[in-house]
Amino acid sequence: MNAIDPHDLTVQPIRLIGQQWMLITAGTPESFNCMTASWGGLGVLWGKPVAYVFVRPNRYTASFIAQQPELTLSFMPESYREDVLYCGRHSGRDVDKMRETKLRSVQLPDGLLSYADAELVLSCRKMFKTRLQEADFLDWSEVHPRWYSEDNPLHDLYICEITAAYTK
Ligand SMILES: Cc1cc2nc3c(=O)[nH]c(=O)nc-3n(C[C@H](O)[C@H](O)[C@H](O)COP(=O)(O)O)c2cc1C
Repeated sequence: MNAIDPHDLTVQPIRLIGQQWMLITAGTPESFNCMTASWGGLGVLWGKPVAYVFVRPNRYTASFIAQQPELTLSFMPESYREDVLYCGRHSGRDVDKMRETKLRSVQLPDGLLSYADAELVLSCRKMFKTRLQEADFLDWSEVHPRWYSEDNPLHDLYICEITAAYTK
């Protein structure tokens, strides 16, 4: 993979995250987990290039994110669509996603984890985490019925500095 300056990213963030989806991966080479995510964004905050993601606290991946200062966002090619979907439909609590998909984990030059054949990987350092609160919504009546329930708790928002970007 080629390291590029995150400022030089030339992606279409809404299509990239919303349609191609990403694998959020956290943990160590010995023990890690990933999940599919299609909510989030890329931008600038506190003078840094940042990525932000929304993770429901009941995801198994959330426990790995909590344990490490860093995580990665991996964007896989179309040939991995089914595998990425699998990671969004099954929990690492129940299955070994590396065994059940053709995803092959690789260590990036910075030591973080991604997957062979990833088109783009963003290495991220957590800077900020907050749990979304009902009281902060300005359109709760519209959002709530569609996205939140007892089984679907409010997301944790993580804002992360993009410390490295790698392309194929
Ligand atoms: C296309 C797609 C997008 C998803 N986006 C998100 C997301 O942005 N945030 C989230 O918390 N869960 C999202 N999910 C659900 C998780 O990927 C799913 O619950 C997964 O099984 C969690 O795995 P884990 O329990 O191993 O962490 C998405 C699922 C799919 C299929």
